[in-house]
Amino acid sequence: MDVIEVRDPADGELDAWHALVSAAHLHDHPDEAPPEPAQTVGLLLGGVRRRLWAVPHGDGFGAVAGLRLPGEAAERAGEIEIHVHPGLRRRGVGTRLLRSAAGALRADLRATAIAQALAGTPAVPFLESRGFGCVLTTRGLVLDTAEAGPATAVFAALNPPGYRLIRWTGVVPDRLAAAFARAKRAMADHEEGESAWTPQRVRETAEQVAKRGDELYTVAALRGPSLAGFTEIVVPGDAPACAFQYDTAVVPEHRGRRLGLWMKAAMLRWLAEERPEVVEIETDNAGDNAHMLAVNETLGFRPLREYREYQAVTRDLP
Ligand SMILES: CC(C)(COP(=O)(O)OP(=O)(O)OC[C@H]1O[C@@H](n2cnc3c(N)ncnc32)[C@H](O)[C@@H]1OP(=O)(O)O)[C@@H](O)C(=O)NCCC(=O)NCCS
Repeated sequence: MDVIEVRDPADGELDAWHALVSAAHLHDHPDEAPPEPAQTVGLLLGGVRRRLWAVPHGDGFGAVAGLRLPGEAAERAGEIEIHVHPGLRRRGVGTRLLRSAAGALRADLRATAIAQALAGTPAVPFLESRGFGCVLTTRGLVLDTAEAGPATAVFAALNPPGYRLIRWTGVVPDRLAAAFARAKRAMADHEEGESAWTPQRVRETAEQVAKRGDELYTVAALRGPSLAGFTEIVVPGDAPACAFQYDTAVVPEHRGRRLGLWMKAAMLRWLAEERPEVVEIETDNAGDNAHMLAVNETLGFRPLREYREYQAVTRDLP
């Protein structure tokens, strides 16, 4: 099985790529919807510079690999994604594709590479046997809203002294936009590259959610005129049974007063009244964010899956 480089993929190649990614996804994540064709194509044709390889097999592809090369700087890591058809695994195909990607990383003078894996899938032993080390875990948690009731009522009544809650749907009210952007910057602790939140960016992000047909709910805690923290949930327009937790943050000087738990419990009560069709809420937490994990577990969220982020030094790759 030979590896070919795919340049400017034609429609047939995009279809073959999507078919292969879908087959691998169904095998490794049987409980999750596979990506839409537009998502796969977007990843292949989007703005960032990239190189693509495939292993032709039958009428389509037996395996594919993509390497994203963001920015021009050699200090930015290249991002590797490899998929091998479930029927063709453990024959060295993944390693061969990784070798192609490693050659391209060297040619581009990139010192490091990153890749993602779902815990419990073959991607973990594959990456760990081929030079990668895990640098970050993200836990996916889910809450059955029907089971959240009693705990939610208790925590929604915490009322830390000096604070009050406000809530809005969609774009933040103008009078709070600057304070809200400042609170968003408080998340920089746990999210790289998120320090550039401005009132404008906050508004645009909410507008994008509305444009997709989804509804954004925000609960915030105020102390006098200052916005001490907030929590956001998005209810998808086309599948409202499963809502998604977006950002939650408490500004550093307001931490340690149970504002996170209070705001999240108030959010759950608001959703129960406003959107009773929401039966599940999903959230992702960095594995090292012990405080947020504890808040979520207190509210009844249970572990769903764990994603791992891997990194390798290019010279350690095959
Ligand atoms: C991860 C994946 C790309 C591996 O492809 P592959 O062609 O099976 O990999 P290789 O045959 O080159 O395996 C190389 C080594 O990885 C390890 N490995 C791979 N799959 C493994 C498994 N299921 N269990 C244990 N070790 C495994 C072994 O050490 C193997 O060497 P060995 O067969 O000599 O023991 C493939 O399973 C896949 O497509 N997974 C879904 C997509 C994905 O999660 N990609 C993320 C990684 S970028």
